[in-house]
Amino acid sequence: MNDAGSPILKAAAWGVVGKAKAHESAELHVLGQATYTDDIPEVQGTLHAALGLSEKPHARIVSMDLAPVRASRGVVAVYTAQDIPGTNDCGPIIHDDPILADGLVQYVGQPMFVVVADTHDNARRAARLATLEYDELPAILTPQAAKAAQSYVLPPMQLKRGDWQAAFERAPHSVKGELYVGGQEQFYLEGQVAYAIPKENKGMLVQCSTQHPSEMQHVVAHALGVHSHNIVVECRRMGGGFGGKESQSALWAAAAAICASLLMRPVKLRADRDDDMLVTGKRHCFHYEYEVGYDANGKIVAAKVDMVTRAGYSADLSGPVATRAVCHFDNTYYLSDVEIRAACGKTNTQSNTAFRGFGGPQGAIAIEYVIDEIARNLGRDSLDIRRINFYGRDTDNVTPYGQVVVDNVIHELVAELEASSEYRARREAVARFNAASPVLKKGLALTPVKFGIAFNVTHLNQAGALVHVYVDGSIIVNHGGTEMGQGINTKVMQVVAHELGVDLSHVRATATDTSKVSNTSATAASTGADLNGKAAQDAARQIRERLAAYAVKLYGGDAKDVRFAGDTVFANGHEVAFPVLVQQAYLARVQLWSDGFYATPGLHWDPKTMSGHPFSYYAYGAAVSEVVVDTLTGEWKLERADALYDAGRSLNPAIDIGQVEGAFIQGMGWLTTEQLWWNEGGKLMTHAPSTYKIPGVSDCPEDFRVRLFDNGNVEDSIHRSKAVGEPPLLLPFSVFFAIRDAVSSVGGHKVNPPLNAPATSEEILKSIAAVEAAVGQAA
Ligand code: MTE
Ligand code: HPA
Ligand code: MOS
Repeated sequence: MNDAGSPILKAAAWGVVGKAKAHESAELHVLGQATYTDDIPEVQGTLHAALGLSEKPHARIVSMDLAPVRASRGVVAVYTAQDIPGTNDCGPIIHDDPILADGLVQYVGQPMFVVVADTHDNARRAARLATLEYDELPAILTPQAAKAAQSYVLPPMQLKRGDWQAAFERAPHSVKGELYVGGQEQFYLEGQVAYAIPKENKGMLVQCSTQHPSEMQHVVAHALGVHSHNIVVECRRMGGGFGGKESQSALWAAAAAICASLLMRPVKLRADRDDDMLVTGKRHCFHYEYEVGYDANGKIVAAKVDMVTRAGYSADLSGPVATRAVCHFDNTYYLSDVEIRAACGKTNTQSNTAFRGFGGPQGAIAIEYVIDEIARNLGRDSLDIRRINFYGRDTDNVTPYGQVVVDNVIHELVAELEASSEYRARREAVARFNAASPVLKKGLALTPVKFGIAFNVTHLNQAGALVHVYVDGSIIVNHGGTEMGQGINTKVMQVVAHELGVDLSHVRATATDTSKVSNTSATAASTGADLNGKAAQDAARQIRERLAAYAVKLYGGDAKDVRFAGDTVFANGHEVAFPVLVQQAYLARVQLWSDGFYATPGLHWDPKTMSGHPFSYYAYGAAVSEVVVDTLTGEWKLERADALYDAGRSLNPAIDIGQVEGAFIQGMGWLTTEQLWWNEGGKLMTHAPSTYKIPGVSDCPEDFRVRLFDNGNVEDSIHRSKAVGEPPLLLPFSVFFAIRDAVSSVGGHKVNPPLNAPATSEEILKSIAAVEAAVGQAA
C-alpha cells in the first residue's frame, strides 16, 4: 500500500459533517428518477378518486343528487359523510374539520363527496355532475369582518409586559396605524396526493405526500374506526411541503383510505392544482392595528399591536400560528412595555395552516413596519433606528414572553453585513440616483431576523431513529423526519456517517414509515435535522460503542480510545477496515442495529400567561436589498440582495445556502407578487399559476450574495448547527422595505407611504398616489 492510500492519511483527510455535500437525491431529481407518491407503480386494480366541492361559502346542504355522478363513465362508487366507517374528522388539534361536509358547507371548495372511478380523468369529470341544493347563510370573508362579528375559531390571546398605557402616555413621540399583510399559497410543486392499499386483516398501507406520517396514521385509523397499528403510512419524499402538508395532507389520506377500505381495492387521490388551491389552507393573512411610543432617539418605549388573522372555517393550526406570531412581534428588538393581542378570525374560507415561518414572519413584519415609520418621522436611516432598539447582550435581553436571549449575535451580524454590502455608500448612491431620476426610483433597506427554534408546543420536540449496520458494512438510517427537498436525509446521513467514521456513500436513508419509528412529530418548525439528527446520532453512537467494546476484546486497550474515521477503525495500534470489523462483530453476535431518541431539553411554556422558555435557541440573519421602481407602472426589480444567515456550525453549507436562497425568494413572492383574491361569492379566484404569481427565475436578483455567518450554537444542538428551514423567509422583508423606501423618495421621504403586502404593482401605484397626495396637501 502506498502512503496516500494509508488508512491514517485517509482518516486524517476524512470529514463528513460540515461539508458541502450534494443532496442525497440530487442526481435522481435531475434524472427524473426520484420516486414521488404518484410515481409508485400502481397495484393491479387501482382506482382513482376525486372530490366534489362546495360552490357556496356558507350554506346548509338541502340535497345532493349524486345519481348523475354515479351514472358517469367509469364510476365505481360515490361516498358522502354518511359512508365514513369511523369518525368524520381530520382536524389536527380541535376536532372541527370534517373530511366530507355533513349537512353544512363552510367555504367554497369544501369537499362534499368523493367519487371513485377507473381513471383519474373519469373521476374528475364525474365529480362535477352533482346537482346540489343549498340554503345559503351569511358568510364572513375577511379577518376584519370576523373581528367585527367577534367570530373566532378560538379565544383571542394576549401577551403583556410592563405598563403599555403609562409608558405610551409618557412617550414624546408616537406612531399609530394599520397594516394588512396577505396570505400565501404553499405552491409545492407536487400537489397533495395519497394512495391507499388495503392489506390483510383490516390493514391499510397509505403512501402519502406528507410532513406528518404519524398524524396521517391517526387520522386514517379514526376515519376507518380501527387501531393505529392497522395503519402504515409511508413517505419517501415530497415535492415540497412548506407547511402545507403538515396537517392538510390528512383530508387526502383519509378520503383515499375510506374509499379503499369500503371497496377493498387500492385507491389513489391526487389533487390537480386548482382543486388543491381551492380545498387547502394557506399562510394566514394578518391585519394589524398598532400604537407605538418612542423617544427622540427613536427608541421604542411603548408598543401595542392588535392582530387578527384569517383562520378560515376551522381551527387547524391557527392557535400555534398565532402564538408564534405573538412571540415574534419583538423580532430583534427589546420592547420594555408591550401589549400584543392576536385573534384567529373564523371566516368562510379555506382553513389556513402552516406555511414556512408559521406566523413568525407575520409577527415580525409589523414591528419592522413601525420602525420604518419611526425612522422616517425622525429623518434618520432606518438601520440606525433598528440598531438602537436591538436586544442587548447583558441588559434589555428578556423577551416579552420571559425567555432570556442568551445567544444574541445580531449586533455583530448586522455590522458584518453593513460593511460587506457597502450599505452606507449605496445609501448615498441611491439618493444621488433618485435626485437625477424623475421616473425610476431606487430603494434600499437592511432588515434583521431573530427566529425561535423549537415547536412552541413543548411535547412535540422529540424524535426517534433506527440505524442498521449490515454485515457488508453498509448502513441504513430511518428516522421520523420527512424529506421535502430541504435535505434532512442528507444531514441525518452525514451525522450517522460521522458517528461511525465512514464515507457518506456507505449510508442510505429510507422512506419515513410509521411502522419503523412511531409517534413522530411533523417535520416542521425547522426542527427536522435538529431533532432527527440527534436521534440518529444517539442510535449510531450505541452501535459504535458496541463495536468499540468488541475491538477492545480483539486488540486490547481502552474502548474510549478506539477511533472511527476514514472507513477504518483504529484500536490499540491496530487498523481494521470498518466492514471487516463489522463482519467479525456479526460472527461474535454483537448487535449491529440500534434505536435512538432525542427530546430537546429545557423547554417550557404556559399558554395561559403566554410565558416561559418556548425556544431552544434563536437563529439570526439579516439582508440588504436594493430595488428600482418604475413610478409610472409600479413595476420593480430587485437589483441586488445580500443575505447573511446564522446557521450555527452548518452541517452542510451547500444545503443551507440553498435553503436561504429558496426561502428568500419564496418570502419575496409572499410580500410582492403572490396575491390571493376571493370574489364576493367567497370563491378563491386565484387558484392556478395563471392568476397567482409565484416568483420565476427571472425575478431572482442578478446579484445575489448569500453567506453563512460563522457562529457555533451556544446550545448543544446537533454538532452545534442551527436550523435553517424557515428563518430566512424573513430576510426579504428587506425587499418590501426597499420598495417602500423607493416609494417614499417620491415625497422626499417626508411622509410614510401606506403600503400593504403584497406590494403588487397596483399596490405600489396606490402608495405612490397616496404619497403624492399627502405631499401636495402639505405644500
Ligand atoms: N425546503 C424545501 N426544498 N421544500 C420544503 O417543503 N419546507 C420548509 C423548509 N424548507 C421546505 C423547505 C419548512 S416550512 C420547514 S418547517 C422546514 O424546511 C422543515 O424541514 P427541516 O426542519 O428539516 O429544516
Ligand atoms: N411550527 C410548526 N408546526 C407547529 C408548531 C410550530 O412552531 N407548533 C405546533 N405545530
Ligand atoms: Mo414548516 S411551516 O413548520 O412546515
